Amino acid sequence: MDNICFAFIGIHLLFSFFKFSTAVDAITQAQFISDGRGLTSKDGNFELGFFSPANSSSRFLGIWNRKIPLRTVSWIANVHKPINDSSGILMINGSANAVLLSQNTTVVWSSSSSKQSENPILQLLNSGNLVLRDGKDGNSGIFLWQSFDCPIGTVGLSARRVSLSASADVCDSYGLCGAYGVCTINELQVCKCLKGFKPVSPEKWKERDYTQGCERNKPLKCQENTGFIKYVGLKLPDNKNGWVSQGMDMKECKAKCLSNCSCIAFASSDAKGGSACTIWLSDLIDIRRLLNGGGQDLYVRVPDSELGAKNGVKVKIVVIIVAVVFTVSGLLLAAYYIRKNRKMSKEKMDIYGTTGQNNNGPEEDLELPLFKLSTIASATNNFSFNNKLGQGGFGSVYRGVLMDGQEIAVKRLSPNSGQGPNEFKNEVILIAKLQHRNLVRLLGYCIHGEEKLLIYEYMPNRSLDFYIFDQAQGKLLDWRKRFNIILGVARGLLYLHEDSRLRIIHRDLKPSNVLLDKEMNPKISDFGMARTFGGDQTEGVTRRVVGTFGYMAPEYAIDGQFSVKSDVFSFGILMLEIISGKKNRGFYHHGDNLDLVGYAWKLWEEERSQELVDECFRDSCTLLEVLRCIHVSLLCVQKLPEDRPSMSTLILMLGDEKTLPRPKKPRLFIGKHSSEADSSSIKQEISSTNELTISILDAR
Ligand SMILES: *[C@@H]1O[C@H](CO)[C@@H](O)[C@H](O)[C@H]1NC(C)=O
Ligand SMILES: *[C@@H]1O[C@H](CO)[C@@H](O)[C@H](O)[C@H]1NC(C)=O
Ligand SMILES: *[C@@H]1O[C@H](CO)[C@@H](O)[C@H](O)[C@H]1NC(C)=O
Ligand SMILES: *[C@@H]1O[C@H](CO)[C@@H](O)[C@H](O)[C@H]1NC(C)=O
Ligand SMILES: *[C@@H]1O[C@H](CO)[C@@H](O)[C@H](O)[C@H]1NC(C)=O
Repeated sequence: MDNICFAFIGIHLLFSFFKFSTAVDAITQAQFISDGRGLTSKDGNFELGFFSPANSSSRFLGIWNRKIPLRTVSWIANVHKPINDSSGILMINGSANAVLLSQNTTVVWSSSSSKQSENPILQLLNSGNLVLRDGKDGNSGIFLWQSFDCPIGTVGLSARRVSLSASADVCDSYGLCGAYGVCTINELQVCKCLKGFKPVSPEKWKERDYTQGCERNKPLKCQENTGFIKYVGLKLPDNKNGWVSQGMDMKECKAKCLSNCSCIAFASSDAKGGSACTIWLSDLIDIRRLLNGGGQDLYVRVPDSELGAKNGVKVKIVVIIVAVVFTVSGLLLAAYYIRKNRKMSKEKMDIYGTTGQNNNGPEEDLELPLFKLSTIASATNNFSFNNKLGQGGFGSVYRGVLMDGQEIAVKRLSPNSGQGPNEFKNEVILIAKLQHRNLVRLLGYCIHGEEKLLIYEYMPNRSLDFYIFDQAQGKLLDWRKRFNIILGVARGLLYLHEDSRLRIIHRDLKPSNVLLDKEMNPKISDFGMARTFGGDQTEGVTRRVVGTFGYMAPEYAIDGQFSVKSDVFSFGILMLEIISGKKNRGFYHHGDNLDLVGYAWKLWEEERSQELVDECFRDSCTLLEVLRCIHVSLLCVQKLPEDRPSMSTLILMLGDEKTLPRPKKPRLFIGKHSSEADSSSIKQEISSTNELTISILDAR
């Protein structure tokens, strides 16, 4: 088992890049690659060839991505055995192994495959994977050997995996479709322009580069008559510069929008007991269609001419005339036609997700079921102790089974929330509208006197803390799962932070609030609780700090200042805990009295970060990904909120290979009492474009 695998962080290539005169992507047994030549993947993105790091004459065989401006090698064959001259030759030997020879006799490196093949081909794929395959196997994906197989340190592998998992929900990436574009997953063309808009650059749009977004077919002139096109079931656009008002109904909201020349769209929510009006005054960005129900309606302002004959009005007039005619000839027929027409307009809506403004189709609010206390009491065996799952900051959680067999988790809120039943109900209905794969779903609620209950979907695999802090259970979560959990939580948090309407700051993110479903997908729980029960939280300062020590950002724990960046801090701690298997609170590295953040920082500075990785999943890990996560964690736990990345930046950081900014020294809590660590040692961001940093980390 002396299959040496290695990792390297950012070996930035400074040597001059040669252009291979003839771009081939594969060789057969009869061919070879000598120094100065190489392979280029079919799409031209990856190259394999010989290179020397700056100020060195040693030659290495490696693969790099040509499209990344700061070129980074993703794989090196002879990392431990540089070739001292340009005699290197890569070929396929008699027993179907790729071998790298120097002085055409010494084997410097070889693929270690025992599989036989009569017609082996060595090929560099578009993914950056160097594969050895049998000529017969064609594109079957069966390989005798592949560079991606090296379990540690192959950037290619991590990049591939990340982009795969990212594409599962592309619409989660902020503003993917640009201005006035709507993102819909599971569609060939994920981005579409709103009606009355067209792509700014149709060519780029065809190539699936949506960043420039859409523009109006006809400019909106304030003097002209304007109307609205209604869209249903959307995640509303970002509303940084918008305007929200409580207690305005739909008509007033529309009038408000019409009265203001800068108004581009409005949305009105008529939850019973209160309504709110939201108005957009700048480009509509980050709209997405929600497929499985839910979502909200958006009215986008367009010139009357864009409403056109296709929309509501005329169709409706025709329908009425037809109906009248048929009333004369027979009520039955009329009824039949009206029904048919209704059905047609409904189908139309299903296709476009839109209807004309006058076409007040079915627009029922998603009603959140109100459960009876008796139902919940019998489901939870009268809140019996045996059904208790845990105790959280806002009350106890019980497992229950409804009459129809559905399992539920019931959160019984502490009675002293000081909130009336109506307020509670409104808040809960708002929170129920937050729907995301990575948020626990609220199924209903119950109010009975002082008793307030929230009914959630039941998560059979408990919470994250159950796994990561336990050596035995920890084995169940390999690195793939852990990384998936990190990404999932990040996406859930991004949704909470950037959903235009509520902008939830969780304020108590920690492993016990990350629940796991059957497939070990993470779902954040307890979101919106601080909003509901945390007191005066519409401002950035709270008198009542909710949260858990060890996860709270310093500005929040000490001054009660909170923002999305305090959640980012907690997320950083969460990542460190997932990677190290240690609790931030109560962890003291022997001798130096450091907490987990301090210890992670120390290791990072000494370039020994890999020692932080919990043994129980070390074998399964892609070291490069882990190191990247540790680096990102350190950025999250920066002392100043402005030094921490936003969740959208963070997700990008986790998924790509670019150089990350260098973290400054975090605020360290030493021993039991916090003491401000010396911050004079703040280092400036490195700009590594002209620096060579080879760090080879051996890992068994
Ligand atoms: C490479 O050599 C140049 C000139 O001798 C020197 O300025 C530079 O610092 C060297 N770079 C590295 C990474 O050693
Ligand atoms: C390179 O190394 C080989 C053996 O390891 C040696 O015979 C040869 O002289 C070296 N060449 C140079 C240019 O140093
Ligand atoms: C090909 O290379 C492999 C790995 O170095 C080696 O085990 C095998 O003996 C070689 N075969 C021939 C025919 O040289
Ligand atoms: C090394 O390669 C050169 C050129 O390919 C060839 O002339 C020479 O005979 C080879 N030497 C050995 C020992 O195979
Ligand atoms: C539109 O409304 C916004 C928010 O109320 C206000 O700031 C802005 O001045 C208004 N613009 C016009 C042209 O009335």
